[in-house]
Amino acid sequence: MYRVARPVLKPLTSNLFGGFGGPLLTLNRSKRFYSSKFPSEIELDGQTFKTDEWTNVPPYILELTKRQLHQDVNHPIGILKELVETTFKDMGYTYYNDFKPLVTPFQNFDVLGFPQDHPGRSKSDTYYLNKDYLLRTHTSAHEHECFQECKTPGYFITADVYRRDEVDRTHYPAFHQLEGARLWSQEDEDWELQMLKDIAAIPQTDIIVEDPFRENKTFNSENPKQDYMTDRQCELASLHLKKTIEYLVNQVFENARISAKLAGSTEEYLNEPLKVRWVEAYFPWTSPSWEIEVWWKGEWLECCGCGVVQNQVLRNSNLGEHKFGWAFGIGLDRIAMLLFGIPDIRLFWSLDERFKNQFVQGRISTFAPYSKYPGIKRDVSFWLPPDSQLHVNDVMEIIRSKGGDLIENVTLIDEFLHPKTKKTSQCYRINYQSMDRNLTREEINKIQEGVEQELIENFNVKIR
Ligand code: PHE
Repeated sequence: MYRVARPVLKPLTSNLFGGFGGPLLTLNRSKRFYSSKFPSEIELDGQTFKTDEWTNVPPYILELTKRQLHQDVNHPIGILKELVETTFKDMGYTYYNDFKPLVTPFQNFDVLGFPQDHPGRSKSDTYYLNKDYLLRTHTSAHEHECFQECKTPGYFITADVYRRDEVDRTHYPAFHQLEGARLWSQEDEDWELQMLKDIAAIPQTDIIVEDPFRENKTFNSENPKQDYMTDRQCELASLHLKKTIEYLVNQVFENARISAKLAGSTEEYLNEPLKVRWVEAYFPWTSPSWEIEVWWKGEWLECCGCGVVQNQVLRNSNLGEHKFGWAFGIGLDRIAMLLFGIPDIRLFWSLDERFKNQFVQGRISTFAPYSKYPGIKRDVSFWLPPDSQLHVNDVMEIIRSKGGDLIENVTLIDEFLHPKTKKTSQCYRINYQSMDRNLTREEINKIQEGVEQELIENFNVKIR
């Protein structure tokens, strides 16, 4: 999401990392947000917040903040988190798991050097309680305080994060990230020896690595080293970072392979060696920066963003001039979908015992679908008034607010501009499907009516 330099449109299914990439980038419409009637105050965690013109977080999203799926050792997200924590046990990391999702724009954006006009700050992308508080959009929001607090060379943070986004099988407005970071000090006379020792301590893997940016090619003018570091420091920090992530990916995907085989799968890809590649990226608070992609079931999965932390973040955290190191952020939900064979991201939030009872601490098992109920397809078509500020994410939000987890996916299937009236017409297709029961025509009609009503009231559309 936070790559600003090279926004590329990729198939949604090949993004494991929680990024944007859907219709949002193609429609190029000015960004406004959907502001329904919000109460004058919102309660969260016993605190009261006065709403204002920034408020856009609906009640169903606030409810999700209470779930804390990553803290449940018998839930796929919690099991995956534990697998990673066990992998890095005794390697110098502190684990943080209970940061609350409410943060300030300072924590989520400013301290990390996001420019004022970065799209991530907009109300169409981010849930705001009011202008001073928002639901974190990434675990990097806690880098600042962890750098200040942490007594070990590195740390891991796992937490729920929130983004307004499209609606489909792999996107949900709430998901989970795991952040890692590690530092060394230029004031340590033996920094080079220490770094070499730390690198050697990362277990070797059999992964096939494609990396055009290794060793003396670590940085270049497009993806630069920071001036305060020596070439060697930048090279070694990058090598430690990449080996750490390769080891993490290896542990996770080897487990996915084992569990798929145990579940009886004989698919060809399970016998191929694991292959990853590094690509250059851009994040406002790291330089140089990369992403790792994993070759899995015949496609490259974008998996994790990372880089060498910029000095300003460390100085802002009162660490002085001489620390240097790396950070990464990895999305857990889509990896857990692969690992546990879970076909739809909504299932993680299911309260159905038939889902929850299938998983136990420490075990990666393959999900057994309990049934597939038939879905219902419905369209919503309307004319927008000229100069309308309606954003695709606003429509997604309205549909999700009215239909909740009965919404399987929503697609903008048609859009055209009337040459004479200059009015735009849009048609969205909604697939309704429940995980645990049959739907009735009446309940779907009611949702459709609610969606249309909301669109009329808030955006003055004309239903077709
Ligand atoms: N927070 C970034 C994201 O969600 C990922 C990231 C973490 C990148 C740490 C660099 C360093 O897009």
